[in-house]
Amino acid sequence: MKLGLAGTAALITGCTNEEGSEGNAPASTTTATEPVDGPVVLSTWVHGLPANEKALNVLNTGGTVLDAVEQGVAVVESDFTNRSVGLGGYPDRDGIVTLDACIQDHGGRAGAVAFLQQFEHPISIARAIMERTPHLMLVGSGAERWALEQGFERRTVEIPEVRKAWQEWLKEGVYKPVANIENHDTIGMVARDAKGMMAGSCTTSGMAWKIHGRVGDSPIIGAGLFVDGEVGAACATGVGEYVIRAAGSHAVVELMRHGRSPEEACREAVARILRRSPELNETQVGFLALRRDGAHGAWSIHPGFNYALTSQGSTRLVDAGYEKPWE
Ligand code: GLY
Repeated sequence: MKLGLAGTAALITGCTNEEGSEGNAPASTTTATEPVDGPVVLSTWVHGLPANEKALNVLNTGGTVLDAVEQGVAVVESDFTNRSVGLGGYPDRDGIVTLDACIQDHGGRAGAVAFLQQFEHPISIARAIMERTPHLMLVGSGAERWALEQGFERRTVEIPEVRKAWQEWLKEGVYKPVANIENHDTIGMVARDAKGMMAGSCTTSGMAWKIHGRVGDSPIIGAGLFVDGEVGAACATGVGEYVIRAAGSHAVVELMRHGRSPEEACREAVARILRRSPELNETQVGFLALRRDGAHGAWSIHPGFNYALTSQGSTRLVDAGYEKPWE
């Protein structure tokens, strides 16, 4: 498959960005800029491994790429040991778990749901909004009522460990987002099938201890996720406020459209966020990008961001390059 873009597939390990700072690209990203045939699936963090396996299985058994990205991240939504995705996630400061998700297809159709309570699969509700309504996003009680009308069932999960962590947090009650090393944040997934069709999904319980009603980047098309089948797809992880301000995933796709490699595009999106907010020395943001020819890349502010890569039939965990201009 040939890519009709101006961009080259140059490796940028250790190159200099627009600010002139040296970045840190791990050796494991060295194949990132090469085009690849067949299905490719990328998703954020180690919880992406089972999600990618599911997505690949869907593709290998006749499902569409949209089915793959929906069912892939749904695996993580159903993992109630996960503290940043689905009903097992940490709650907001009122002790309530609220969920955000979005999905987008090759042609740009999209669905999103935000500030949703008590449903196991916000990603499926997002897809249903895309396919069954004239709208793109539903939120809160309206989204819940509509989901019930559509046959989605409420689900509540009581997790003593989560309640205890919230009660501990309440003792000081200070909200301070930190670099996401422990709390692995969102799952974002971008994928391309063997025919070159692309799609993406993103789902999260958001930042732990957030103000009730807060919505992050994950359900916002162009912020937490952006897919344009003419070019590629990107998704984001980390503190959503910074990603939204930069329209991060849209920026990554547009940078690829104008010739940047996937890794360069992610890196420039990170650099833009840092130029506007140089104080982010304790906050993580990372991007994944998949070009329509199967080349991929990733970049983050801090070390520790990794992602699941499924390509040529196998799945592995890869470390993203990072900026870390404080050292
Ligand atoms: N990136 C997830 C959030 O900020 O909610």
